[in-house]
Amino acid sequence: MTVADLPKVELHLHHEGAAPPDLIRQLAFEKKVDLAGIFRPDGSYGFRDFVHFLSVYEAATSVLKTPEDYGRLTTAVLEQSAANNVIYCETFLSPDFCGGGDVSAWREYLHAIREAAEAAEARYGIILRGIVTCVRHFGPEAAKSSALCAAETAGDWITGFGMGGDEGKGHQGDFAYAFDMAREAGLKLTTHAGEFGGPDSVREAINDLNVVRIGHGVRAIEDAALVRELADRQITLEVCPGSNVVLGLYPNIAAHPIQTLRDAGVKVTVSTDDPPFFGTNMRREYEMLEAAFGWQADDFTQLNTTAAHAAFCDEDTRARVLKTLEST
Ligand code: ADE
Ligand code: ZN
Repeated sequence: MTVADLPKVELHLHHEGAAPPDLIRQLAFEKKVDLAGIFRPDGSYGFRDFVHFLSVYEAATSVLKTPEDYGRLTTAVLEQSAANNVIYCETFLSPDFCGGGDVSAWREYLHAIREAAEAAEARYGIILRGIVTCVRHFGPEAAKSSALCAAETAGDWITGFGMGGDEGKGHQGDFAYAFDMAREAGLKLTTHAGEFGGPDSVREAINDLNVVRIGHGVRAIEDAALVRELADRQITLEVCPGSNVVLGLYPNIAAHPIQTLRDAGVKVTVSTDDPPFFGTNMRREYEMLEAAFGWQADDFTQLNTTAAHAAFCDEDTRARVLKTLEST
């Protein structure tokens, strides 16, 4: 068995960001929307930089208009994940895109997504859980609507609350009300930080939002005291090496700080972020890490065990995931 064949736990995946370009093109055709501008001649998504990536992402998402579209998206995403031997996955879902922040519309989208996820679990054995995610550049008021959607549907399937979007806009603390509401509803918390923001954004995430995981967080490496704090507080980083290279944070995987963070005792995990946008998938991430750092099966098993322990699911589900990892 190669490392790419190992069973995998993925904690950081944006639902729309995992949409195969063919599905988005098909939906654009059905809805008569002209999306030609977002694709490269070879059919992949095209963008210049992070801010342009976010606008291409939102253009692609604009053809996902109904709960049924999200059901089709979920099926396509989980087929891809299962083909990469992902056994457990957490996906970021935004009520802003699924019903415009309205709770009853959000419930309909969620129903369609869960139905497709149950069918995929029956077929491939893959387990999916949802993290409701607000979008930073949509602002704190929209985040409150998302948090209300999250609180109303919190349970064994919606298990977390998070934030993505443009780290250049505002501060983590501007979203404290939304995160407090989600925490009070029993949800576990994560936020994107230390991707395009520096170490200070990671500090703000820990101090102002009280998150237990951080999306990316890799720029913590620029501050030794912060790295020690992450290790001491056992905060898990959802690291997406391929995404970071394509978006220009590091010139290549060998220059990525994941190895140094791991050596410093920080809990690191590996995910794809928005795989078709970044020309990646979980197999490819493992192959790149093997090539860059010589990681072997034991290293990846440790990575997946860390991810299973940091997953936002209930304890029965965690035990099932750990059992599958142990038996491989
Ligand atoms: N939304 C989708 N992908 C993202 C990323 N890598 N960073 C922030 N927001 C995102
Ligand atoms: Zn992300």
